[in-house]
Formats: sequence, C-alpha cells, structure tokens
Amino acid sequence: MKTTAALLSALLMLLLAPAVAVSGEAYDQALRALLASHGQTPLESPPFVIDDKYLLGQALFFDPVLSGARQVACATCHLPTRGTSNGQALAVGVDGRWLGENRLTGGRGFETPRNSPDIWNRGHAAVQNMFWDGRVALDEEAIDDARRYDKDDTTIYFETPMAGRFPDGVENLLAAQALFPLTGVDEMLGRPGDRSPRDFADEHANLPNELAQAAAGTSGPRQIQIVHEALVARLLAPRLDTDDLDEDGEPELAEWQKEYRRLAHAAYPDVSLRQLSIVELVNAIGHFEKIAFATRNAPWDNYLRGDNYAISYGAKAGARIFFGNGRCAACHSGPLFSDYEFHSLGVRQIGPGKNISSDDLGRYHVTGDKRDLYKFRTPPLRNVTLSAPYFHDGVAATLRAAIRHHNDPLNLADAKYANGTHSWNRGKRKSVSYVLAAGLNLTDTEINRLIAFLKSLEDDVDDLMPRIVPARVPSGLPVASMYGLR
Ligand code: HEC
Ligand code: HEC
Repeated sequence: MKTTAALLSALLMLLLAPAVAVSGEAYDQALRALLASHGQTPLESPPFVIDDKYLLGQALFFDPVLSGARQVACATCHLPTRGTSNGQALAVGVDGRWLGENRLTGGRGFETPRNSPDIWNRGHAAVQNMFWDGRVALDEEAIDDARRYDKDDTTIYFETPMAGRFPDGVENLLAAQALFPLTGVDEMLGRPGDRSPRDFADEHANLPNELAQAAAGTSGPRQIQIVHEALVARLLAPRLDTDDLDEDGEPELAEWQKEYRRLAHAAYPDVSLRQLSIVELVNAIGHFEKIAFATRNAPWDNYLRGDNYAISYGAKAGARIFFGNGRCAACHSGPLFSDYEFHSLGVRQIGPGKNISSDDLGRYHVTGDKRDLYKFRTPPLRNVTLSAPYFHDGVAATLRAAIRHHNDPLNLADAKYANGTHSWNRGKRKSVSYVLAAGLNLTDTEINRLIAFLKSLEDDVDDLMPRIVPARVPSGLPVASMYGLR
C-alpha cells in the first residue's frame, strides 16, 4: 500500500512538474513508476553458448550454397553489421550483386516486395508471429486445446503457408520461419533455368539449379516440400554412402558435403544420416539465430535494473514521451516493444507490392478480412537504431523520418497529387490507426528525445561479431559477411 501511494505521488509529480524542476532522484522515481505501470522489466536473454547445434546453424545461415544458384545466404539480407537487416529499402535476393546498401538487382532486376526486417530477439517468448504480415504464427488455440486434452503435451502448433504439410518436430517460430525463404523464388530459390556462376570454384561452378528444377510444375505447400527435400539431398546426400565411388574411382561426395555431414552428426548424434531432414536443419538455424541475435547489454536494461546513470537525461525524457503523450507504447509494448498485433500507419508504398497488387495490403493478404487491409505487424524496437531504412517497404530512410510519419500519418505520407488531393484510396485513409490518425503533435525536440530513448535500447554487439560471423563456410563459397563489402 505504502509503495503504491509513493509511486502514485511520484507519478503525479511527473505529470504536474515541468521536467527541469524535478530533482534527479525524484525524476527517476517518477519515471520508474510510469515504467512499472507499463510492466517494463529488464530483458531476459539466453547466455551466449556456442555448441554443435549453433555451429551447424551458423554455417547454414551464412552459406550461399543453400540457394538455388549458390549465391544468396540468409545473411545476404540479414547482415550482422547492418543490424541484421541489409541497409536496403527492398531486399534483393537471387540475381543480386554486392551487399548491403550497395546491393543491386541483377540483369533481371528482381526486388522482393518488402524490407528485410531485423531479426534481433526473435527467439524470445514474447514473439508470437513472423513476417510483416504475421503469416507464420503460433497457433495459440491449437496449443491450448492440446494442453486441455493432455496436460503433458508440449507440442507447438503453427499457422503457416504450408498448412497441413507443415512438418513435425519444428522447435520454435524461428525454425518455422526458416522453412520459407529457402523456397522463395526471388529470395533464395531462383528459377529452373538458372545456373551457378562460371567463375565459382570448380565444385560449384556452372551447376544447374536442381532445387528449382525438382519443384517445377508444382505449387503451394507441395512445392515447398519438394524444394526442402532437394536441398537436404544437395547438402547431405543422405542416400550416398561416403565410400561410394564414381567411374573415376573418386568418392561421390564433395569435401564440403562431408563437412555438412560431420556438423549435422555432431549436432544430432542420435539422428541417423538417412533420418536427417529439413527439420533438423531449420531447428539448427533457429537455434543459432536465437543465441547469436539475442540482445544482452542495452543501457535501457541497466536502467531498469536500477542504475540511474545508465542512460542520458534525453533518453529518460524520451522514455516519458514514449510511454506518455507519444502513445508509442500503445503498440510498441512489452520487453521487445511490440504488441505483435497488426496496425495500419498508411505508409507510402514503393516497389512491386505484394502478390498481384501494386500496393501491399499487409495482413489482409493472410486473412482476407477487409478489417486487416494495410495493417502490418508492429515491429519490435530493440537495436532499431542499427537497421535503417524503416517500415515494411523501407520507405523511411531514417528514424526521424519514421517517427515524423507516425506524428502525422495522413499528411506526411507524401501522398498528395499535384492538384492537392490525397493519392490514397478511401480504404487506405480510413485504415490508419485511430491512435495516430489525428496526429500526435510532437515537436522536433520531442522527436529528438524519442530518438535518444531508442538509442538506449541499442546493444553493444561489436564484441560478439567474431563469434557470430564465421571466417568461412563449409561450401567454401564467399561468406556473406560484412567483413568487407563484396
Ligand atoms: C532476399 C533477402 C532475404 C533472404 C535471402 C532471407 N531473408 Fe529473411 N526476410 C527477408 C524479408 C524481406 C523478410 C520480410 C518478408 C515479409 O514480411 O513478407 C524476412 C523475414 C525474416 C524473418 C522474420 C522476422 C520478423 O520478425 O518478422 C526472419 C526470422 C528471417 N527473415 C530469417 C531468415 C533466414 C533464417 C533466412 C535463410 C534461411 C532468410 N531470412 C533469408 C529477406 C530475406
Ligand atoms: C497504432 C500502433 C502504433 C503506434 C501508436 C506507434 N507505432 Fe511505431 N509502428 C507501428 C507499425 C504497425 C509499424 C510498421 C508500419 C509499416 O511498416 O507499415 C511501426 C513502425 C515503427 C518504426 C520503424 C521500425 C522498423 O523496424 O521499420 C519505428 C522506429 C517506430 N514505429 C517507432 C514508434 C514511435 C517512436 C512511436 C511513438 C511516437 C510509435 N512508433 C507509435 C505501430 C505503431
């Protein structure tokens, strides 16, 4: 009771007193009360432990041999030194050249329709869905049903584009997500006629894209399944015994395939070569991502743990706005600063758009429900300072631009035709969240403070880079690392 009263009076002080007039300690006390009312607690992250599963997942994450024409790795679009995004507005997968913000579309010019999101903390329990439209999600209802029926059931159920063909044994959302970029035509898979570049090392040069060829003529979940099977065959050749010899008396297996077999065996000693499937591979990728991309040292968490000097006055003032009149925490809530729900900000569309539409209809593409038009999953904000540009299509080049858009979405969307009329259709205008539609009226100073606050969520990841980015990958192909832009 006593503490509640103290918190309340502190809170009152915060609301009534102008910021400068409040002494340091009282200011922190009031801010802490505000944060407690929002349930802010320090982030809990798994320890950084490198085990055999991590090493397998790390190799798979950085190795371009997982893509049809052996040129694109997960890391191509999720570069550790670009905040696990890639510095581009719209990600470029197959056919692209160079990395980071210098990455160009190749001759055929494929851009994917969306911005590469950062992938920090996606192994945290607060995460409920993946992708800007949440199309890979935990099926909470099925999980609850199963537990009601059988208390000991720990099966996790997912809603995904694979529907009934989703494989058993996928450990978590990160692993479930990893099933999909591998099979995306513009992301990693490519087309049946593609070949790997001629100037690659012999064992990878000018090879057909047998992954896309295997799946030609199929579609949907079955196509995804076929690509997965072909990929396992490429990496591990599970039906070939190491001692098999070809006509020249050479073993059929390349050294790099043997290395993948060794890594997989070390990670899964109880699973035989022939039983290894895409499930073990994506579980390893998910495990690697969970450990490597957990944030651990943000000044913000030190502040929450009680160190008043962990963050600047500007950051504290920013936090007051974030959890106060900025209304940010209405959507960016919880330890990762996302409610994992869907909202429309009426962000201006660039690029090819999604499916047949030149606009991106967001969550609507998943549910078909008109109320979901133009809605996107609230992005989490830890390390957001590192992953510009922002929004689902990367249209905001800076944090300032992203916040200014929130500040007045209907007017700052740059959506006026020359004659002054709004270029959005009525549906898009009406979709904008009521929390923001009327405008927040934040001043430039307030926006600066919000940026200072977001900066306090930034983790110092530089020291970990040598443990996250491998020096080489089993295929021997160029590592999609950021030690030097290629
Ligand atoms: C061509 C670039 C590209 C490649 C290659 C790529 N991604 Fe992504 N990734 C994206 C884009 C773009 C999205 C968002 C797509 C969407 O929302 O529709 C995304 C989304 C994700 C997400 C979801 C994050 C969230 O919270 O929504 C994760 C996790 C992820 N990718 C991991 C991976 C892994 C693992 C691989 C390799 C197996 C991979 N990505 C390969 C571009 C790429
Ligand atoms: C109504 C819910 C809502 C509110 C309130 C809100 N946001 Fe957002 N925020 C979103 C959504 C949804 C997106 C993604 C929109 C898109 O890409 O189309 C987003 C995107 C962002 C991004 C870009 C992140 C990235 O990775 O691309 C930042 C930064 C951000 N918000 C900060 C803020 C701040 C600061 C405030 C308070 C001034 C705020 N938001 C208020 C829902 C909200």
